[in-house]
Amino acid sequence: MRIDVVTIFPDYLAPLSLSLPGKAQASGLLDLRVHDLRNWAHDRHRTVDDTPYGGGAGMVMKPEPWGAALDAITASPPSADPAVDSPVDPPADSRADSRTGGQVPLLVVPTPAGEPFTQRMAAQLARRPWLIFACGRYEGIDQRVVDDAAGSMDVREVSIGDYVLNGGEAAALVVTEAVVRLLPGFMGNASSLAEESHGDAGLLEYPVYTKPPTWRGHDVPPVLLTGDHGRIAAWRCAESLRRTAERRPDLLPATATVALDGVEVTPVLATRADAGELWTLQQACWLVEALANDTLDIPALHEDLEDVVEGLHEWRTYVVREGARLIASVRGRLDGDTWHVGRLMVAPDLRGRGIGRHLLAFVEGQAPPNARRCELFTGAGSADNLRMYRRAGYRPVRDQPADAGVRLLAKRLQ
Ligand code: ADE
Repeated sequence: MRIDVVTIFPDYLAPLSLSLPGKAQASGLLDLRVHDLRNWAHDRHRTVDDTPYGGGAGMVMKPEPWGAALDAITASPPSADPAVDSPVDPPADSRADSRTGGQVPLLVVPTPAGEPFTQRMAAQLARRPWLIFACGRYEGIDQRVVDDAAGSMDVREVSIGDYVLNGGEAAALVVTEAVVRLLPGFMGNASSLAEESHGDAGLLEYPVYTKPPTWRGHDVPPVLLTGDHGRIAAWRCAESLRRTAERRPDLLPATATVALDGVEVTPVLATRADAGELWTLQQACWLVEALANDTLDIPALHEDLEDVVEGLHEWRTYVVREGARLIASVRGRLDGDTWHVGRLMVAPDLRGRGIGRHLLAFVEGQAPPNARRCELFTGAGSADNLRMYRRAGYRPVRDQPADAGVRLLAKRLQ
C-alpha cells in the first residue's frame, strides 16, 4: 500500500517510522511518503492560510498550495511492483487513468466534521492500494480543494471522534495505524484480529489473563484453567456480550422484535442450553429437505447432540422462541471476506409467515464489517428455498460443488 501524507508539520508523522508501521515499511508492505505542504507555497513567506470569506475567527488553508501538492503527488503513482502496492484488487473505477497509473487514490481528509472513523472504515481503507492524507490546520482547508479532488479521485472526510484537535496530523496517525495493521501479511496471527474489540463479532473483547494464576489475591477465572475449549469459548462469548452491554450498548446487534403473522420474532444468540431443542428442530427441518430432495444423504440429518454443541462454538447461532418453544434458528460464520450463512430453520408448522426471510435478512445484518459477500448451500430440489433465496438476491456461484444434489448461492454485501 502507498500512503502519502501532506502536512505543514512533517515531523509530526515521525512515529510512523517506529513500531509496526515502521516494520511494514521495512518489509515493503507500506510505501509511506510525508510531504511538506509549504513546498507548494510560492510566496516569500511560504504562506498556506488566509482569512475566511464571510468573516469569523481563525484562518483557512488556501486552495492553491493544496491543488499543486495533490497534482504533483498523483502525477507519480505507485509502481506496479507488487511488493510495494497492496496485493488486493484495485477498485474498478472509471477515473483510473494514466496519471494515477490506473490506481485511484483515496484522499482522506481528517476533520471533526467528517464521517466517524470505525473499524469497518479501517477495513475498507485497508483494501485500497493508495491513500493520501490531507492534514489541515487552522479552521480547515478551503472546501474547493475537496470538491476539486473529487473529480479525479475518491474522497472521504473522516473524524476520529467527537472532539476538536489542532490539526489532522494526529488523526492521520490514528487512521494509518488502524489501517496498516489490517494489511494482508502484516499481522502474524490473523485470528487475533478477528477476536479483538470491534473485530469480526462487532463486540468488545473479553478480558484476558496470563500467569501467575493468583496475583495480589486476584484469581484468574477458573474456567480458563480447565483446558475445556468449549467452555472457554462460551465464557469468552458471554464476557464479550456482558462488557459490550455494560460499556457500549450501542454496539449490540439490533434485536428489534418483528411480529410476523402473529408470531413475535426476536433472534437472540444461542447458548449451550439451546442445543437439545436445536437438534430436534434440525431433525424436523432436514427431514422435510430429505423428502424434497429424495435423499437421506444430508449431513445435518446425521449429526448428534455433540455435533450440534460443537456447531455452537464454531458458528454464531441465533434462535427464536415463541414463549418457551424454540421455533427457528440461523447461523453465520466468517471465512476470509465471506459470511457463510447456514442452518436456516423454521418449525414446519410455522412456515409461510416470512420468519425464514426475516431471519435471513437478520443474519446478513450480523455480518462483520469486513465481510463482502454471503454464501449459503441449499438442496438442488428445495424449490421453496431456492425461490426464497433468489428473491433475497442470492444467485448460483459459477463454480458449483461437485455434489449435484446441492446448490451454492452467493450475494454481495453492500
Ligand atoms: N481535526 C481536528 N479534529 C479532528 C477530529 N476529531 N478528527 C479528525 N480530524 C480532526
